[in-house]
Amino acid sequence: MLRCPIVALSLAVLAAASPAPAPAPTPAPAPAPQALSSAVSIFSSVTGAAASALPTILGSWPSLSDIEKKVGVSDGNDSKLQNISASALLIPSYANYSGDWNLRFYGLAYKLPNVSTSDLDSLIDGLSTNNLTSTQQQLLQNRTQDLASIPIPKANLTALVLANGSAVTNSSGIQLATADDVGEFDQFVTVSGLGGNDSSTVQVVQTGILNVAGPGNGTIILVPSQGISIVSDIDDVMRITKVYVPNEGLKNSFVQPYVNVPGIPELYANWSKSLPGVAFHYDTTTPVELTRTYVDYLFSNYPLGSLEMRPINLTDPSQILDARQNSLLKLFQTFPQRKFVLIGDTSSSTLLSAYPQIAQQFPNNIACIFIRNTSSTDSDDKIPYDTKPFQNVKNGTYFFYRTAEDLAKLDIVNGQCVNSTIPQNITFGEQGGVLDSGSNGAASLGHIQYAAAGVGLVVSLFLGFI
Ligand SMILES: *[C@@H]1O[C@H](CO)[C@@H](O)[C@H](O)[C@H]1NC(C)=O
Ligand SMILES: *[C@@H]1O[C@H](CO)[C@@H](O)[C@H](O)[C@H]1NC(C)=O
Ligand SMILES: *[C@@H]1O[C@H](CO)[C@@H](O)[C@H](O)[C@H]1NC(C)=O
Ligand SMILES: *[C@@H]1O[C@H](CO)[C@@H](O)[C@H](O)[C@H]1NC(C)=O
Ligand SMILES: *[C@@H]1O[C@H](CO)[C@@H](O)[C@H](O)[C@H]1NC(C)=O
Ligand SMILES: *[C@@H]1O[C@H](CO)[C@@H](O)[C@H](O)[C@H]1NC(C)=O
Ligand SMILES: *[C@@H]1O[C@H](CO)[C@@H](O)[C@H](O)[C@H]1NC(C)=O
Ligand SMILES: *[C@@H]1O[C@H](CO)[C@@H](O)[C@H](O)[C@H]1NC(C)=O
Ligand SMILES: *[C@@H]1O[C@H](CO)[C@@H](O)[C@H](O)[C@H]1NC(C)=O
Ligand SMILES: *[C@@H]1O[C@H](CO)[C@@H](O)[C@H](O)[C@H]1NC(C)=O
Ligand SMILES: *[C@@H]1O[C@H](CO)[C@@H](O)[C@H](O)[C@H]1NC(C)=O
Ligand SMILES: *[C@@H]1O[C@H](CO)[C@@H](O)[C@H](O)[C@H]1NC(C)=O
Repeated sequence: MLRCPIVALSLAVLAAASPAPAPAPTPAPAPAPQALSSAVSIFSSVTGAAASALPTILGSWPSLSDIEKKVGVSDGNDSKLQNISASALLIPSYANYSGDWNLRFYGLAYKLPNVSTSDLDSLIDGLSTNNLTSTQQQLLQNRTQDLASIPIPKANLTALVLANGSAVTNSSGIQLATADDVGEFDQFVTVSGLGGNDSSTVQVVQTGILNVAGPGNGTIILVPSQGISIVSDIDDVMRITKVYVPNEGLKNSFVQPYVNVPGIPELYANWSKSLPGVAFHYDTTTPVELTRTYVDYLFSNYPLGSLEMRPINLTDPSQILDARQNSLLKLFQTFPQRKFVLIGDTSSSTLLSAYPQIAQQFPNNIACIFIRNTSSTDSDDKIPYDTKPFQNVKNGTYFFYRTAEDLAKLDIVNGQCVNSTIPQNITFGEQGGVLDSGSNGAASLGHIQYAAAGVGLVVSLFLGFI
């Protein structure tokens, strides 16, 4: 299980190479060559795709047992762990209707020890937060805190459901099926008494876990059988992450306030008013422990919807792709009569392969596929991407866009997915990256940039952004 090590590299790189955010006028120095070259070897070991190479690159982030030691619950003395109250995370989810509503309960049971940034500091080799402002340190603390979660294996949870503030379930709640070995659960439960009728608009119910002391609240959208479902990637589609720029992706993820991609909040708000029976499903391959950070951001900027996070249980990078495909498959199987609009960007390789695949599997359920070409609006994006899988997707259903404005006036309901004023430049194969710009004179610079892109890619992989 690579749960904790996931962040290892990233924080180490953040510490090693992110320049001081400056009230001071000193210009930010370029990353040291050493940092790059070690990252390059890391990169090749990952792209070598040898699963056996993984442990070597994941070195310095504390393992679960490091955290347990720090909290003093190791050595078989779990009385301290017993003293930490149980918490549950209910990831915002969805329900379908078949005479009654089937609610998907999806989340994690865990205990959250009180680990401070300085505790993490002392555990993580090479991490230094000295160069961060106190605001940045607080954000870092806030966003990494949940990564110290200790899962509760085989947790037995009891859920409650509230509609318009009143409980629909009886006082003893619903017994959920036992969670797995890493505290994760994902199951449909039929709940009666939720109004019965399959309405033509999305309704929202509140959910909670009764037998935990920590926060355990969530929301579930009741999605009508017919209508349009917007499935949207988050990083670099809805918020500016720049996962394709080394260090910047990290800084934006951990120490900077989240920033919207311009025009997208307005676009989604418009769609939420104008599209029939519209439902929003946000999908990311960021690890599940970062859910709350995402939920807080999403629900204060975008229409309420469901969220897919990457499972903790990850033993191989290929499972990131599987996670993306599985969550799409689950959506399409749960809503066989709905039409889906899939939105992503060229910096996510899993998505560039998963969207065409699901489109071929369910051709009648695809309304449109919109892919933001991040390299067309941001020259910093040097990561090559592959459009080959789109070769098999019906022409006219997919569209590579640059800005929200390119999509704003499309008549999605009547099958208009392409804005003909935007040049598409599509050839089916590898696109972009420094290899494209390669004059001989630029070769060595190109190599460094490519290596730098590699750092971003690796970091992205283990942060789960791809
Ligand atoms: C376990 O830890 C608690 C609290 O630190 C301590 O009181 C207790 O003696 C320990 N038990 C064992 C068996 O070490
Ligand atoms: C558990 O918590 C109680 C109350 O906060 C405290 O008195 C006790 O020492 C704690 N036990 C351990 C093992 O930490
Ligand atoms: C967590 O630890 C910090 C510093 O060690 C302390 O100030 C804070 O009160 C603790 N919080 C809880 C909930 O125990
Ligand atoms: C802070 O950043 C400067 C310039 O990048 C670097 O020389 C220094 O070592 C850093 N300090 C710490 C404590 O990381
Ligand atoms: C993070 O910040 C949010 C909003 O300010 C707050 O509600 C939450 O409790 C904080 N979480 C942690 C782990 O500090
Ligand atoms: C949950 O219930 C199952 C089946 O009754 C049991 O095997 C398991 O130990 C329970 N889990 C916990 C954490 O108590
Ligand atoms: C974790 O993933 C592996 C490989 O996909 C699978 O065999 C195993 O059952 C999973 N474990 C849990 C607890 O889900
Ligand atoms: C849970 O409740 C908190 C505090 O009321 C709120 O900020 C958060 O958005 C809720 N979570 C969900 C998933 O609704
Ligand atoms: C509801 O979702 C479940 C789980 O995906 C699926 O098995 C079932 O067929 C769906 N029901 C309807 C009526 O579509
Ligand atoms: C898709 O259709 C457009 C407009 O009809 C056309 O210009 C383009 O060449 C087609 N692309 C492919 C790959 O067939
Ligand atoms: C097409 O894109 C242009 C440029 O972004 C925009 O002004 C126009 O409204 C778009 N047209 C449609 C139909 O979306
Ligand atoms: C197509 O290429 C042109 C010229 O390089 C560029 O301006 C435009 O943004 C590209 N279109 C897209 C959708 O990326």
